[in-house]
Amino acid sequence: MATDDLPTVGLVGGGSIGVAWAIVFARSGRHVVVFDPEASRRQRIRSEVGRRLEALASFDLIDEDVEGIIDRVLVVGELASAVESAEYVQESGPENVELKRQIFREIENFAPPTAVIASSSSAIVCSDIAADLVSRDRCLIVHPGNPPYLLPVAEVVPAPFTSEAVTRRAMDLLEQVGMSPVRVRREIEGFVFNRLQGAVLREAYCLVRDGVISATDLDRVMRDGLGRRWAVVGPFATSHLNVAGGIPAHAQRMASSYARMGEERGQDDPWTPELVSTVAAELERMLPTGDWERFVEERDLAMMVLARARRSMREVGE
Ligand SMILES: NC(=O)c1ccc[n+]([C@@H]2O[C@H](COP(=O)([O-])OP(=O)(O)OC[C@H]3O[C@@H](n4cnc5c(N)ncnc54)[C@H](O)[C@@H]3O)[C@@H](O)[C@H]2O)c1
Repeated sequence: MATDDLPTVGLVGGGSIGVAWAIVFARSGRHVVVFDPEASRRQRIRSEVGRRLEALASFDLIDEDVEGIIDRVLVVGELASAVESAEYVQESGPENVELKRQIFREIENFAPPTAVIASSSSAIVCSDIAADLVSRDRCLIVHPGNPPYLLPVAEVVPAPFTSEAVTRRAMDLLEQVGMSPVRVRREIEGFVFNRLQGAVLREAYCLVRDGVISATDLDRVMRDGLGRRWAVVGPFATSHLNVAGGIPAHAQRMASSYARMGEERGQDDPWTPELVSTVAAELERMLPTGDWERFVEERDLAMMVLARARRSMREVGE
């Protein structure tokens, strides 16, 4: 893999997400330099990268020898050494706004002026971290799932002051290293990933609290039901493919029932005709109703592939 002419990636914070980012960038041929202030943590980073890569290799999920990938991961005890030659810096320190502000100030001091500075922050927005920096236009959030080498989506969340070119560069790099970057159009607490997760979790807690179901069985409803379908199509595509006639037909059939469930939880966010039309238009472009049967078949085939993987997972466990 030709790698030496690619710009280095600087990783600040080598905890569980920092290590996972090291795998994402190194397995795609980038040299990464990881900084963590804890000596005991630093000592474990390369062996942890190695263990996780061995596991990926055993499922044929990497295209190169584990050793070759680890060789591209350097661990350092000074933040400056991690970022001084980086074109892209990914901060993955603790989720604490004061600490992130301080870390961003340091990165700004030591990274080349053209480097993009991204934070893995789960909930803190970039405006709260980087507003006071001189070069705040090169800062943004790149929020991964955990671990990003298995969940390719990354939420790219610019602040109002982030430059469009920087956002574009971050999205391009993420695509080049095999991620699936999604742009979040405005800053919002929890971004989209955790808002969706939160909506499900809030309802899950209510259902257990109200004695409707046990926690174990609730997880089964997700694992053996909704989750299996959501592994291949999102909630909008699910609705579109569940009812002939797509989104408009689904909304007509289900909107009032879902609105009543929302009201029960103190929520008043009806699916207005305009909102349904906006979603329907996008889904129609993505999955035209003229080919509806074919898309349903493809969804089912994808679920069969997963069902087969689940079966071999059970066999491994036995
Ligand atoms: N764990 C998740 O599921 C997950 C998912 C997405 C995003 N995130 C976000 O990623 C970030 C890191 O989370 P994590 O789970 O890896 O946490 P972690 O506790 O495993 O790692 C944090 C690391 O930061 C280091 N650190 C402490 N002070 C530092 C400093 N001043 N400069 C640089 N590094 C410092 C710590 O030594 C530690 O190794 C957080 O913002 C978190 O919200 C976490």
